[in-house]
Amino acid sequence: MSGVNEIRSAFLDYFKTNGHEVVASSPLVPRNDPTLMFTNAGMVQFKNVFTGLEHRPYSTAATSQKCVRAGGKHNDLDNVGYTARHHTFFEMLGNFSFGDYFKERAIELAWNLLTRDFAINKERLLVTVYHTDDDAFDLWRKIAGIPESRIIRIPTNDNFWAMGDTGPCGPCSEIFYDHGDHIWGGPPGSADEDGDRFIEIWNLVFMQFEQITTDERVDLPRPSIDTGMGLERIAALLQGQHDNYDIDLFRRLISASEDATGVPAEGKNRASHRVIADHLRSASFLIADGVLPSNEGRGYVLRRIMRRAMRHAQLLGARDPLMFRLLPTLVAEMGRAYPELQRAEALISETLKLEETRFRKTLERGLSLLDEASAELGEGDRLDGETAFKLYDTYGFPLDLTQDALRQRGVDVDTAGFSEAMERQKAEARKHWSGSGDAATETIWFEIKDKAGATDFLGYDTETAEGVIQALVRDGKQVDTAQAGDLVDVVVNQTPFYGESGGQMGDQGKISGEGYQLEVSDTQKRGEGLFVHRAKVVSGAVTTGAVAQLAVDHSRRAKIRANHSATHLLHEALREVLGTHVAQKGSLVAPERLRFDVSHPKPMTAEELAEVETMANEIILQNSAVTTRLMAVDDAIAEGAMALFGEKYGDEVRVVSMGTAMRGVKANRPYSVELCGGTHVAATGEIGLVRVLSDSAVSAGVRRIEALTGDAARQHLSEQDEKLRQAASLLKVQPGDVPSRIEALMDERRKLERELTEARKKLALGGGGAAGGDESRDIGGVKYLGKVVTGVAPKELKGLVDAAKASLGSGVAAFVAVSEDGKASIVVGVTEDLTSRLSAVDLVRAGSEAIGGKGGGGRPDMAQAGGPDGTKASAAVDAVAAAIG
Ligand code: ALA
Repeated sequence: MSGVNEIRSAFLDYFKTNGHEVVASSPLVPRNDPTLMFTNAGMVQFKNVFTGLEHRPYSTAATSQKCVRAGGKHNDLDNVGYTARHHTFFEMLGNFSFGDYFKERAIELAWNLLTRDFAINKERLLVTVYHTDDDAFDLWRKIAGIPESRIIRIPTNDNFWAMGDTGPCGPCSEIFYDHGDHIWGGPPGSADEDGDRFIEIWNLVFMQFEQITTDERVDLPRPSIDTGMGLERIAALLQGQHDNYDIDLFRRLISASEDATGVPAEGKNRASHRVIADHLRSASFLIADGVLPSNEGRGYVLRRIMRRAMRHAQLLGARDPLMFRLLPTLVAEMGRAYPELQRAEALISETLKLEETRFRKTLERGLSLLDEASAELGEGDRLDGETAFKLYDTYGFPLDLTQDALRQRGVDVDTAGFSEAMERQKAEARKHWSGSGDAATETIWFEIKDKAGATDFLGYDTETAEGVIQALVRDGKQVDTAQAGDLVDVVVNQTPFYGESGGQMGDQGKISGEGYQLEVSDTQKRGEGLFVHRAKVVSGAVTTGAVAQLAVDHSRRAKIRANHSATHLLHEALREVLGTHVAQKGSLVAPERLRFDVSHPKPMTAEELAEVETMANEIILQNSAVTTRLMAVDDAIAEGAMALFGEKYGDEVRVVSMGTAMRGVKANRPYSVELCGGTHVAATGEIGLVRVLSDSAVSAGVRRIEALTGDAARQHLSEQDEKLRQAASLLKVQPGDVPSRIEALMDERRKLERELTEARKKLALGGGGAAGGDESRDIGGVKYLGKVVTGVAPKELKGLVDAAKASLGSGVAAFVAVSEDGKASIVVGVTEDLTSRLSAVDLVRAGSEAIGGKGGGGRPDMAQAGGPDGTKASAAVDAVAAAIG
């Protein structure tokens, strides 16, 4: 029979022909289930469809589902490599009926596919049914004609399938294949059932119930069907193999690792090649679905898988990182069926290489410590927990790696001792926090983290997820429950909410569950690895341990994403336009706008700002994919990634790249490459548009750019446009003529102002223009022109006095102006020839007294003063006259 790819297609085509919707595999990180670490069966994505919570536009479906069974309840990690059928990653083929057909059609479809399309010898097939399921028993007789001797009733949970402690469940019927009496083993239910002769190939679950709690089980709205057939198993059978690792797909992966290491998969090396082939699949698919190696949760399971394989690569004598070199073979084999593998190839490759490079640094020293510590140990002995912990803590050996290394020699590990050593270390660390002077409210986060573990952040891949509430904190204290109206900090085991960091604001949204609703106003990171949701209970009561549906405010997050990506583009554009001295000094990525501080010594010109904006928009128009990789900090920086001010980086960093440079030395290379933990658009086009609003000074040498993107930018532009239109209509010109019209109006205004000033002067000087001598009087041989003027601003008085002095030739001029609020200003001028006798300062003082002012100031030829009492303006003119005489 054909290869794995053809078998997968044949399965899906068969069900499509039989009216089923072919549905894509869901991601390995379940979006709809808080109890599962990884998707471990085909029905996981349909859980809520079975229970009637969710509706899809079809009532029957078929899938080939990616599954991982490592970590959590179903954990096959330890066995992989040493058995014929254990995998950490496998594909489950399944057909589903959501209240459409039930047992009869399910049995018929399965039987026909196996015996007709796949042409499996009927005589070799036998089935099991749940002991009380007479229906299924009779249907097998009727449809398949299987003799009663080959329909086995099983009374145990083996034939009652449940997804977990809660969720959809029902009796099941399994189809077995008899590989023949040359292989040891008995039929299901017999004492020898664990042998390898009778192999289960397909499980048909007759979904009928929903387990609500351990004690409560209810009927599903309609009886349904869930089936699961391991692709690797059926492929082995169809390819005439007994061992899953002998199917075409695994043969190609193993031969790639034989080629790369030069070591044949024989004898004791066989297990190592199998471990590598299997773990390459799980690691690659997990990375493609957004999991990255870390020391917590899912990331740690991934790290354990990777390191276990890497130790086997080392056992095979590989001198350099091996795993990433096998990736092209995996992508060639599986990339068509799972395009996400192709899309993430670069990320997977770099992540594998980085992890292997780093782990190799300690692997050899760790192994020699292990050899030394276990030299004396033999079959049945135990390695002490302290050494296992040291290997974990200092050399990065996950416990199962140490167990795996000792397994072939029959040596066990004292796991209780390992846990004790771990606890001791944690207690030490706790002492450290309480002694570190942190506020009491802060230590609470460390306590919660210690108990609940770090929050798994899912928000790079999804905006909705289910979780379990781990802790509630009200007024700085842990509480078990919070009521409507309460403000609480909520910690969930996993979350799609982004915790504020790197300038990007925390997410808002909703958390809800059975009988409660919370409104999240902010999300913050606390206690090294916890995401804390600031929330208000809007209805009901929430308790720790409750299941929670988490939903990020989508439109707000979409705006934040666009603004964050735009910040990266502006950063690069600023460096190009202003020079490479430009470094980010801080930023704020909010939904409504972005703010970005950079080092630059002087204000930017309008041309520079326009150029920056144009460049960023060029990349937006490229609409190229934004890619994220995990790299070693040093490698990332060596590749030109920009590290940001004030950020603390671990050994590994996320590197976000976007756009393709169009000119300069970087032409055709990524435009912007930055270390960044934030969330970004998938393609630059999603930013829509970036509009730089302003450049201002923050402090010496630091400029602040503010900008808008997407709809906010568009709205801003249309508001500007509207204002321009209004201006044009007021000016009665076309919008394009507004600037020239304004220029003309301003010229006209300047001219009018000049004319007005002239006219006022003339008026003040007596209207007649020439001498104004009519109004001057003679005081002891000194010509004096004193006047109260109206409609003249105090600042214009000096001009009037100067003009009067000029027309008097020799004499004294004094002008008093009264402003609208009734105050008076006075200016007195004395011509040069008289300043030895008369001082303007003395004269103005006399005038100022009259209007209730105190003194004044100036020079002997020109002085000014003011006073509160404008009604005494003419008295002031007379007072100056009196002072002259
Ligand atoms: N959900 C069933 C299983 O995983 C088909 O075996």
